[in-house]
Amino acid sequence: MMTTTKKYKLPNGYSLLQVLLKTGDFLKSPVNFVMQSMEKFGDSYSAVLPGNRQIMWTRNPDFIDHVLRVNQKKYKKSEFSIGRAADFFGKGLVFAEGDYWRRQRRLVQPGFHRQKLMGLFGIMIKTIKESLAEIPVGKPIDIYPFMSNLSFKVLVNSLFDISLSQDLIDELNQLFNELQVFLMDESNRPYKKLFYPFNGAEKKQYAKSERLRTIMRGIIKERRASNGNFTDILDTLLNSKYEDTGEHMNEDQIIDELFVLLFAGFETTSNTLSWLLYLLADNKEVKEKLIASIEGTNINETAQNEYLKATIHEAMRLYPAAWLSERVALEDDILGDYSFPADTHIFIFFYGLHRNKKLWDTPNAFRPERFLKDGKNIKRKGFFPFGVGPRMCIGNHFALAELMFFVHAFFEKFDVETTGQMPEMNPLLTLQPDKVMLKIIPVSVGSRQ
Ligand code: HEM
Repeated sequence: MMTTTKKYKLPNGYSLLQVLLKTGDFLKSPVNFVMQSMEKFGDSYSAVLPGNRQIMWTRNPDFIDHVLRVNQKKYKKSEFSIGRAADFFGKGLVFAEGDYWRRQRRLVQPGFHRQKLMGLFGIMIKTIKESLAEIPVGKPIDIYPFMSNLSFKVLVNSLFDISLSQDLIDELNQLFNELQVFLMDESNRPYKKLFYPFNGAEKKQYAKSERLRTIMRGIIKERRASNGNFTDILDTLLNSKYEDTGEHMNEDQIIDELFVLLFAGFETTSNTLSWLLYLLADNKEVKEKLIASIEGTNINETAQNEYLKATIHEAMRLYPAAWLSERVALEDDILGDYSFPADTHIFIFFYGLHRNKKLWDTPNAFRPERFLKDGKNIKRKGFFPFGVGPRMCIGNHFALAELMFFVHAFFEKFDVETTGQMPEMNPLLTLQPDKVMLKIIPVSVGSRQ
């Protein structure tokens, strides 16, 4: 039977005509537009895109859990999100599907196991402390470029425990950024594809992707030629073998996985670091409590600091770096009162979930205490900063460790003050803050030990 003859019960939402009329508003401020639409229609709403494509946006925790975990086998990532990115970044974990994804996940996961990660903590702490020695102090500055450079260095040093020149790190950082901006722009303004044959814009991006591959090949070649003992992530990728064949990954597969780790791990962490420091500068009481929780403790004990963990969770609740994910239904599905056809494109709105009034008291307030009091229940229900289900973030413990080490190392040496200017949200592939204007102040030696 043809699916078009069936009756479905989709949540209320926008018709095709309304979508066409409102596209400008959406592009101007996607987060606010979706929040307002949810105020109007409810936690889930539908819309029809050109080509009769049915989409749904949701911030309903049961719905999200259903799509990403409970019934995840009946969903896949869309061509729209992974097909195009894979053209430039290859078929690493984030952009892989089905059996290939499963095999790769099994192979890459051990690089992020507890023991392995603990071997990286020294590299992380050293990189953070070296970077902090160069943080601009005294005058109000936009802290985002500093955080971006810091988290890129932490990631690069953890992937490859060799010293890359600052110029090469800057070049990698820039190439990744430019490719991401290009992808986002293309997905928001698909008509731009028409001009590629004339303006060469796409060709330029392929050249950037090729340059990235050349850099990675150089690093791998150097590693294979070295006799050293390494504990970095590249070491895991080079040495792990497929269970069924006993073979290693080939060089292109290793490069694809290195790309996705950089792609998925760098901007997410630098955004979170920036939002977190802004929130602390803006909430003096929380900041003072946090500083008190750090005082007299050693950076290696950071994992035991429950208040620090709660503060980081609260920052990720308010500003989830992964503000959005998406899946496509492989079959018709039913959820609660709703039913929808195969091919429905579901947009999972983590930002809205984390500010859903039904789940959170005073959802817009920065109150780390909520994670101390009833954190466990909340976490299960409506807190998914790293996603949920089998495709949950592979780097979650890595990111949390980095965030905790950073906060500890920062407040040992510095304080931060607000300039009264709130960063704008810039929802690209991740939720970037635009202009995080803060004042960093060194604290006198010995006053915080
Ligand atoms: C605060 C930092 C981070 C946040 C908020 C974050 C968030 C997420 C989320 C929400 C997903 C799931 C997306 C989905 O299901 O569609 C994800 C997947 C992923 N993340 Fe992270 N992430 C962070 C840091 C990292 C780091 C540091 C790495 C690696 C070093 C990393 C590597 C990955 C990979 C490889 C995937 C794909 C997993 C798969 O599909 O099997 N992430 N991340």
